[in-house]
Amino acid sequence: MTNTPAIEAEGLVKRYDGVRALDGLTLSVDRGEFFGLLGPNGAGKTTFIETLVGLVEPTAGQAAVFGNDVETEQQAVRNHVSVAPQEFNVDRFFPIQEVLEHAARIHGVRASDARERAAEALESVGLAAKGDRKFRALSGGMKRRFLLARALVSDPDLLILDEPTAGVDVEIRRDIWNVVQRLNDDGMTVLLTTHYIEEAERLCDRVCVVDGGQTVVVDTPGQLRRRGTDTIRAEIDGERVHANRLRAVDGVDDVAVTSDGVTVRAERAESVLAAVVTAVSRQGRTVETLEVDRASLEDAFVDLTGPGADGSGGPESDETTTSQPSERSRQSSTTEQ
Ligand SMILES: Nc1ncnc2c1ncn2[C@@H]1O[C@H](COP(=O)(O)OP(=O)(O)O)[C@@H](O)[C@H]1O
Ligand SMILES: [Mg+2]
Repeated sequence: MTNTPAIEAEGLVKRYDGVRALDGLTLSVDRGEFFGLLGPNGAGKTTFIETLVGLVEPTAGQAAVFGNDVETEQQAVRNHVSVAPQEFNVDRFFPIQEVLEHAARIHGVRASDARERAAEALESVGLAAKGDRKFRALSGGMKRRFLLARALVSDPDLLILDEPTAGVDVEIRRDIWNVVQRLNDDGMTVLLTTHYIEEAERLCDRVCVVDGGQTVVVDTPGQLRRRGTDTIRAEIDGERVHANRLRAVDGVDDVAVTSDGVTVRAERAESVLAAVVTAVSRQGRTVETLEVDRASLEDAFVDLTGPGADGSGGPESDETTTSQPSERSRQSSTTEQ
């Protein structure tokens, strides 16, 4: 049992008339992993989650959660899993403390313990003081945190978060990140879907890039980032440099001479930087400024899922392939920690 993956999906297909929401999705998530599903809107992320918890019946393929088949062993699956859904689906008419007590009871928590369990869940997301509010009276960020609290009352082995920070401001996004990071540190397996690159990069041990209902690639954020290319821009004093001498540098992929210097592309900037500077000075020129633009996970993501990428169709809106402008992961832009 202990070696059984938390999630194992094999060739999952979900067809709605005309649409293949899932088109043969295959992936495996280890116990204890913080695993990200990163994909544009319409990629099939929510459908995949709904398949895991029995809300959607797959057209073909199979999936298991901790070894329990999602179609034939739904109760066992539900005992292990909680979902904080993308869409709000909360009873609006009861105070949220009561909603949580009810959720705890449904998961088999005894009446005498439910109140405390609900209070703990609220506390863990910073809503301890809001227990007597109704869901509809919460701000957007509080609603997202409440959905997380509701997922936690059953103390799941696998926590599934469907776009947990969609539409919340930066500060609350960080609060949510901290909460889920701590839960994962304490051993909870987390599956998170997002189209925010930074979120995947910050939190996930591994990321599955999904597009068109298929797994495009699974890798660590670091390895995915390395699929991109770094750019080195050098301003050079004096006459134009000879591009050929720079092209000859081991590890350099591409060189473009510009009016005031040169732009060099390489897989790893740090491994060619010194040699590039040396090649310039051997030509009797001086490098005046040097700027390195590291490949980002965002670049890799755009390459993998953009209109030019293999897959069915391009993004559906311009929201799909970007992190928020303030959160660009390029290292040359200012970072706000
Ligand atoms: N109940 C449904 N009926 C018809 N089409 C659906 C339904 N649910 C999802 N889809 C379609 O399946 C595709 C994948 O949707 P979804 O899983 O919500 O993607 P994501 O969560 O990655 O944005 C989309 O094209 C969507 O319109
Ligand atoms: Mg979705």
